[in-house]
Amino acid sequence: MSIIELTDEQQMIRDLARDFAVNEIKPIASELDKEGKFPKDLVKKMADLGFMGIFISEGYGGSGMDTLSYVLALEEICKACASTGVIMSVNNSLVCEPIYKFGTEEQKKRYLPPLAKGEKLGCFSLSEPAAGSDAGSIKATAVRDGNHYIIHGTKNWVTNGPEADVIILFASTDISKMHQGVTVFIVDKEAQGIVVGKVEHKLGIRASSTSQIIFDGCRVPIQNRLGDEGEGFKIAMNTLDGGRIGIGAQAVGIAQVALEEAVTYSKEREAFSQPISNFQGIQFMLADMATRIEAARLLVWQAARMKDRKMKFTKQAAMAKLFASETAMWVTTKAIQIHGGYGYTTDYPIERHFRDAKITEIYEGTSEIQRIVIANQVLKGF
Ligand code: CAA
Repeated sequence: MSIIELTDEQQMIRDLARDFAVNEIKPIASELDKEGKFPKDLVKKMADLGFMGIFISEGYGGSGMDTLSYVLALEEICKACASTGVIMSVNNSLVCEPIYKFGTEEQKKRYLPPLAKGEKLGCFSLSEPAAGSDAGSIKATAVRDGNHYIIHGTKNWVTNGPEADVIILFASTDISKMHQGVTVFIVDKEAQGIVVGKVEHKLGIRASSTSQIIFDGCRVPIQNRLGDEGEGFKIAMNTLDGGRIGIGAQAVGIAQVALEEAVTYSKEREAFSQPISNFQGIQFMLADMATRIEAARLLVWQAARMKDRKMKFTKQAAMAKLFASETAMWVTTKAIQIHGGYGYTTDYPIERHFRDAKITEIYEGTSEIQRIVIANQVLKGF
């Protein structure tokens, strides 16, 4: 356990998430992964526990807790199933949060209660086939037509895309202005002119869904614009700062469960007439795994605390995501090594954790993008 003290409420939500994850998610996680099946029932149960809008105030249907509570719960969920975790993190960090922070009173009253209570699911639609890391160069357009905007364009890599009811959509209202022309809209997915395109077959987080969304003349009322025209890029960056703390927590959860499984296996498996945990070759790996996880968790908690205290946390969120995701990849690799040949088979869950870890180095900003963000902040003296 860490020296950082948690409040009774924070411990309570972590314990609640742990019980739920161990009893309800873990027993079916492997099957969900194999079948690539979206865990609709688990999402409903997470909603009942208040996990779909953790830091949204109770007045808007949320749980009114802080970001640290959120990362504590998310780590526990991701220990059992990183797919279920990302569904929760997208709804909280990338959908509820920007509406809560940048929405008008009318938008908050209309959209937050169903999203925070899990009656509706949200997705975040920024990337495009030719614009991922270079988010300022998106080509989807939003053209004003009276009291509406007409949206055209194809969006990619949308987590929750097929199941979502509400889309946080980024489109350009002035392509010539590049990132300064980006505008955000809250779009009801049932609107005309929206089609779910290709659903991706992925290496990991296979029980979560990721798809293209195609907008072909979709009409969005002007009241659904989030912020002013041209404010979209900053809203995206601000939202992703928070999202990256969640992905950091997801990565810590994946790494932690891989360590626990490696410890268990190393105590049970015998070689040369003794458990392999007796060998320094294994112990050194376990020591490095545990140390990196602890450092990653502290970075995630620090970023969460800074966000809760309304401090600037761009650098700390990027550091937390960078370090935690690379830790998850490194730790799961070592955990497979400790399992030997068995770790390379689907008989043990470790290969799933290894596959799930990889995406944490890619989505919500690759490791390379995190290094750019950190370097920019360092050079600016933050
Ligand atoms: N908060 C608020 N504003 C910010 C900001 C932040 N963290 N970072 C930058 N900005 C502002 C800058 O101040 C600047 O403002 P001005 O125009 O007034 O000068 C503006 O944004 C542009 O900043 P940069 O010049 O730094 O922008 P850039 O074009 O060089 O890009 C980048 C910077 C870091 C590379 C950025 O594009 C980025 O983070 N890219 C990665 C995008 C990403 O994470 N995509 C993942 C999408 S979500 C997903 O993965 C799918 C899913 O469903 C989970």
